[in-house]
Amino acid sequence: MSSQIDHLLSETRRFAPPAQFAADAVGTAELYERAAADREGFWADQARDLLHWHTPFTQVLDWTNPPFAEWFADGELNVAYNCLDRHVEAGNGERVALLWEGEPGEERRITYAELTDEVKRVANVLEGLGIGHGDRVAIYLPMIPEAVAAMLAVARIGAIHSVVFGGFSADSLRARIDDAGAKLVITADGGYRKGKVSPLKPAVDMALADRNGSGEQETVEHVLVVRRGGNDVEWNPERDLWWHEAVPAASADHEARPFPAENPLFILYTSGTTGKPKGILHTSGGYLAQAAFTNRVVHDVHPESDVYWCTADIGWITGHTYVTYGPLANGATQVLYEGTPDTPHPGRWWEVIEKYGVSIFYTAPTAIRSFMKIGREVPQRFDLSSLRLLGSVGEPINPEAWVWYRNIIGRESTPIVDTWWQTETGAIMISALPGITETKPGSAQVPIPGIAIDVVDDSGEHVGNGNGGLLVITEPWPSMLRGIWGDPERYKETYWDKFADKGYYFAGDGARLDEDGDVWLLGRVDDVMNVSGHRLSTAEIESALVAHESTAEAAVVGAADETTGQAVVAFVIIKQSFLKAHEPEGLAGTLRTWVGEQIGAIARPRDIYIVGELPKTRSGKIMRRLLRDVAEGREVGDTTTLADTAVMSVISKQVK
Ligand code: WTA
Repeated sequence: MSSQIDHLLSETRRFAPPAQFAADAVGTAELYERAAADREGFWADQARDLLHWHTPFTQVLDWTNPPFAEWFADGELNVAYNCLDRHVEAGNGERVALLWEGEPGEERRITYAELTDEVKRVANVLEGLGIGHGDRVAIYLPMIPEAVAAMLAVARIGAIHSVVFGGFSADSLRARIDDAGAKLVITADGGYRKGKVSPLKPAVDMALADRNGSGEQETVEHVLVVRRGGNDVEWNPERDLWWHEAVPAASADHEARPFPAENPLFILYTSGTTGKPKGILHTSGGYLAQAAFTNRVVHDVHPESDVYWCTADIGWITGHTYVTYGPLANGATQVLYEGTPDTPHPGRWWEVIEKYGVSIFYTAPTAIRSFMKIGREVPQRFDLSSLRLLGSVGEPINPEAWVWYRNIIGRESTPIVDTWWQTETGAIMISALPGITETKPGSAQVPIPGIAIDVVDDSGEHVGNGNGGLLVITEPWPSMLRGIWGDPERYKETYWDKFADKGYYFAGDGARLDEDGDVWLLGRVDDVMNVSGHRLSTAEIESALVAHESTAEAAVVGAADETTGQAVVAFVIIKQSFLKAHEPEGLAGTLRTWVGEQIGAIARPRDIYIVGELPKTRSGKIMRRLLRDVAEGREVGDTTTLADTAVMSVISKQVK
C-alpha cells in the first residue's frame, strides 16, 4: 500500500472544466453554500424539487434512534410514479426512456409513455398473483427492458425487490430468496452473454428444488418468465407463467398509490466480512431524492438533450441507482445494453456510443484498464464526439487509467467524475461536480453537497491533511441503508460499533487526505475484495472451498491485478483422506469450477495453490497479509508473530 500512496502523491496533474461545460452545468457552487448553511434544509429542498410527493413531508431527518434514520417520514410518494407517470403527465411521454441494444444487435426504443404502460400492466400481473405491499420479489434477469420494468412494477405496488445478479449461481440465488422470503421470482429463459445464450430459468428451477438436502424452497409461489434467449426451459404449469402471455393480457390501468417515504424499496445483497451476504435495505423517499440529485448534479444530466449510459448491470447497486432510479426519476434518455463489452468485437461499447450519440458515460476502472490493454486503435475507429462527460465507479481508478480515459475516450477535454459510494450508501457520496471542480486523476476528491465525511485514525480523530486513515461518514444522509434485512444487530456491529462514541458510519475503506484536503481512496481495509468493481468476501469463498469434499482448509486473499484491480487467490490444504483415494492432478481446476457453481463465475479464484500449511498466529488466526505477499510475488513480510515461522518459506516453495 505504501508504494501506491507514494505514487499517488506524486500525481500533480489538474484539469479544469471546459468553459462551456461550466457555464451549462447543473451543479453550481451555491449548492455547497446552501448545504453548508443548512444541511437538512438543503436535502428537503432537493426532495421537494426533484420528486413528486402525494403527501408533502413536514419532517426532514429523524435521528432520535441512531443508527436507525428516518428521512421525510411523514411524506408519501410512489417511486414508480416519480420515474414514469409524472413525466408522461408533464407532456414528455414521447421522450425515449430506454434505448435498448441487445448483444446480438437488436434494438428497441421505449418511450416514457410505453414504459409507463408496460409497468402498469406488470403491476396488475403482480397484484393478480397475490403480491402486495411489503412482499418480496426476487428478480433474476439479463439487461433487458423488462428488468427495469419489473423493478418499477414491484416499487409501484409497494412491494420490495431483491435483484440477484444473473451471474450468481443457483445456490447463491437460493440463499437470497430464502433470506428475503420472496413470494415471486421474475426471470428469463436466458440472456445473451459473450455471443451465446446464457440460461437463467434452469438456475431458478434448481434454486427452488430440493437439492443437497435443502428441502424444496417454500416461500416462492410463482415464477414469471420473460422469453429472451429462446432456449428450451422446463415448465411447471402450476408455478410458472410467461411474461409475454400474462403482461399484454393485463390491463394498462393502474393507479400508483402513495406509500410512506420510509416504505422499503429494495433489498440488495452484498458481501461482507463473514461468509453470509448481507441484505442491504433501502427505503423510498430519501433514496430516490439522493439518487435523482446525484444523477442530476454529478452526471450533469440535462434530460431534454442528453443520452446517458451507465454500463452497470441492474444486479448491482450502480444499476439500481444509476440505471433504474436516478435517470428515470430525472426523465432522462438512456442506453441499456445487454451484453459484454467485447462481443462480437472489442469495439462494441464504442460502437454503441457512436450509434446512439451517448453524451454521458459511466463505467468502472476495470473496464477502462482492459480497454487500455487492447489499445487505443479500437476506440479510435469510432466517432465518440458526442461524449461530454465521463464517470468512474466501483474501485480506485489509477491516474494512468484516468488520464487514458480522458485522452482517448474523452478527446482530452471531457471532465471525469470519480465517484465513491457503496451499496450501503445508496448513492454517490464523494465526487467532483464536473462543472466546478478542478479534477485530479486518481482522487475522488470532495463530498458532494449535503454529505459530511472525514478521514480518521483508529480512535476516530481527524488525521489532518497529508495523512491516511479510515473513511467515515459523520452525518446521516438521505439514501443511507436503513439496516440489514432481518438482522438489526449486524447492522449496528458492522457499520456503527467501531466509532460508536462519535456516531460515525464506518465505510470499510482506507483513505488519505492530500494537502488540499482532497480524498484519495486506498481500497478496503477489511476482508472484502474488490474484483472488477465487484465486492467479494474472502470468508464466503473460503467457506465455498471447504464445502468441497477435498478441502481441509482454505485461505483466500485479494491480490493486486493489473486489469481487475484485485484478483481472487486461494491457498488450499487438501485432506489426507482425499489424497489417498484421488489423484491431485486437476484438483485446482475442479475447485475453481466448484466455487463458480457455489457462488457464481465472478468468484472463481484466478489462482488456486495447493499447500501443506497456512500461516497462522499463535491464536490460530490466518495471516492473510503474508499470503498476499506470496500471491503478489513479493518478498514475504514480517513473520515473527507466526506460530511456526518456517511455514512461509515452505508455502513460497510450494507456490513456485
Ligand atoms: C469501492 C459500488 C475507490 C470501495 C458503488 C467501496 C471505490 C466499495 C469507488 C463499494 C471509487 C466504490 N474509488 N473505491 N470511486 N467506488 N469503491 O457496494 O471499496 O459494490 O467500499 O458499491 O467499492 O462497492 P459496492
